Amino acid sequence: MKGIVLAAGAGTRLYPITRSVNKQLLPIYDKPMIYYPISTLMEIGIQDILLITSEREQDNFKHLLGDGSQFGIKMNYAIQYVPKGISDAFIIAEEFIGDDESVLILGDNIFYGESLRKNLVNAKENLRNGYSTVFGYKVDDPERFGVIEFNDKQEVVSLEEKPTEPKSNYAATGLYFYTPGATNNAKTLKPSARGEIEITDLNKIYLNEGNLKCELMGTDINWIDTGTYDSMLEASIKIKAYEEGTSKKVAQLEEIALRKGYLSNDNLKEIADNMIKSGYQKQLTKLL
Ligand code: TTP
Repeated sequence: MKGIVLAAGAGTRLYPITRSVNKQLLPIYDKPMIYYPISTLMEIGIQDILLITSEREQDNFKHLLGDGSQFGIKMNYAIQYVPKGISDAFIIAEEFIGDDESVLILGDNIFYGESLRKNLVNAKENLRNGYSTVFGYKVDDPERFGVIEFNDKQEVVSLEEKPTEPKSNYAATGLYFYTPGATNNAKTLKPSARGEIEITDLNKIYLNEGNLKCELMGTDINWIDTGTYDSMLEASIKIKAYEEGTSKKVAQLEEIALRKGYLSNDNLKEIADNMIKSGYQKQLTKLL
C-alpha cells in the first residue's frame, strides 16, 4: 500500500506568511504541520510515502524529512507544477503507485483521537474486499466541503462538492483510500468550473461503480483542516490540551515508528543523541 501527501497548494488564505514559507512547514503546536498527515499514514502501517509539493518548496521539505529513515519510513518526492486539483495527485504519482492500493492525505489535514485506529483498520478491510473509502465527519458548515449523503443503511447515496444546499452535515475529510487503478480513473476526469480535477469527481466514479464505502468518524476524533490562521491556532491549542490531558503525544513520528517496529530502541537512541539537547531530544529519550 502506497501513501501520498499532497502539500503543493498556494496557501493564499495565509498570506503574507505563505509568500515565503509553505503552509505545511508552519508549526501546529510543537511540530511542522506536515508531521500530522505523515503520522496518519504511519498509523495506517504505510512506510512508503510520496510527498507532492510545489517546485519552489521541495528542498525545504527534503531538509526537514530527508529520506525518512529517521522515522523508519521511505520518503519520496514529486512536484506539482500547477495546482490543478486534488485528483492530480494520482496522475503525478502514477509510477509510484504502480499496481498498488493508495492512500491520499492532504498536507493540511490533522486527525487524532482514540477511535481513529478503528476507522483506519475498517478502511483497510474495505480495500481487501475491493472497496475504496472516504471518511465522513459531522460539521456545522457542510457547504464548505465535499458533502456525503447516506441512506438509512449508511450507504453513500450522493457526493457533492461545496453544494449551496447540502443534503447532509457530513463532510468528506482529506483522507482517501483507493483500490488499484486510481491513476487511470483520475486521468478520465475533466476540470470543474474552478479549473480543478476534483477529488469529489474521482470518488463519484467509485460510487457509480458501487465500490465506495464511507467510514464515519466518531465524536472523539478531532479533524482539523488547518488552512486559516484561526484553524491553525485552534489546532495548536486543542493538541496541547489533548497531550496534557492524556499524556499522549500527537504525531510524534519517532514514537509511532518505535511502536510499529519501524525503528528499534538502538535506532532511536542514536537519533536522540544527535539532537543537541533540544526539548524534542528530551521527549525522545523519554520514549526509551
Ligand atoms: P486548499 O486549502 O484548497 O488550497 P491551499 O492549500 O492552496 O490554500 P488556499 O485556499 O489558502 O490558497 O488545499 C487543500 C490541500 O490540498 C492543501 O494541503 C494543498 C493541497 N492541494 C495541492 O497540493 N494541490 C492542488 O492542486 C490543490 C487543489 C490542493
